[in-house]
Amino acid sequence: MTSIEKAMDRHSEAAVHSDQKEAGHHSKDSLLPRSVHRINLADLQQQGFLIPDHGGHLLSEEYRMIKRPLLLNAFGKGASHIVHGNLVMVVSAISGEGKTFTTLNLAMSIAMERDTTVLMVDSDVVKPSLSGFLGLSGHLGLTDLLYDENLNLSEAIVNTDIQKLKVLPAGRTNVHSTELLASRRMEYLAKELSNRYPDRIVLFDSPPLLVTSQACVLSQIMGQILMVVEAGRVSQAAVKEALAMLDSDKVIGLILNKKPKSLFDQRYQPYGYGWDNNKKEDKKR
Ligand SMILES: Nc1ncnc2c1ncn2[C@@H]1O[C@H](COP(=O)(O)OP(=O)(O)OP(=O)(O)O)[C@@H](O)[C@H]1O
Ligand SMILES: [Mg+2]
Repeated sequence: MTSIEKAMDRHSEAAVHSDQKEAGHHSKDSLLPRSVHRINLADLQQQGFLIPDHGGHLLSEEYRMIKRPLLLNAFGKGASHIVHGNLVMVVSAISGEGKTFTTLNLAMSIAMERDTTVLMVDSDVVKPSLSGFLGLSGHLGLTDLLYDENLNLSEAIVNTDIQKLKVLPAGRTNVHSTELLASRRMEYLAKELSNRYPDRIVLFDSPPLLVTSQACVLSQIMGQILMVVEAGRVSQAAVKEALAMLDSDKVIGLILNKKPKSLFDQRYQPYGYGWDNNKKEDKKR
């Protein structure tokens, strides 16, 4: 983790068991065990991802620092002021800055919490690498839900063998996937996720802001936005441009990613992180 970066200009930093809620009703059916997807943790670990029970590992400490304010904003005192505060989107200005890496690691970290469940949504439907890492490519998912209004959320959400980690995969490729992502149905689904699971963090891996139009539309539904900035690659102008696309009323956190070790104190490698609970801070000044 790197340093905390003050946000730019006008933007302040801002198991195996059944799930009755997910079944969408409380009938006897909801008590039946649902299938559980096994995540290949060895494979993820080999690719540098955070995996459960990595207690003393630097990476887990770094993500602990990231998730604390995020959880407070979602569930802590005053959280009710943040509309849909449990909907968190991971964005970046351009591609390859580390959104998927961040989403997966953060979700693993949150899933280790005693009381918090996390639902990862692969909303990068054109490049669904999150679904790929989890072995859920081509699985029923978001695009299917967007395309077929008769499908229920519970039919597409995947329970995993990490009890507090659920996944909504990107879904099967659809020629209209980009339009679907910016549709009213997407807004409806996101709100449905927020309201139906108020005790969950719903973490969206998204496409890059400056390259696609869907990320910006999607960001408008979110309560919190995490902007990943790859150190040394993306220009400050691009980051500012991307931030300008986000609603300044949102809670926006910045993560400086892939920071070279030598530039930072040992405790803050290799990520940087800064939150803005913007309005409150501004008022104090
Ligand atoms: N902090 C990090 N340390 C080491 N490798 C990283 C880090 N963050 C990301 N990477 C690596 O950088 C590459 C790009 O990361 P990732 O796929 O997460 O980016 P992305 O923003 O999701 O890209 P896209 O916009 O194409 O979806 C991957 O190979 C990933 O493993
Ligand atoms: Mg990605």
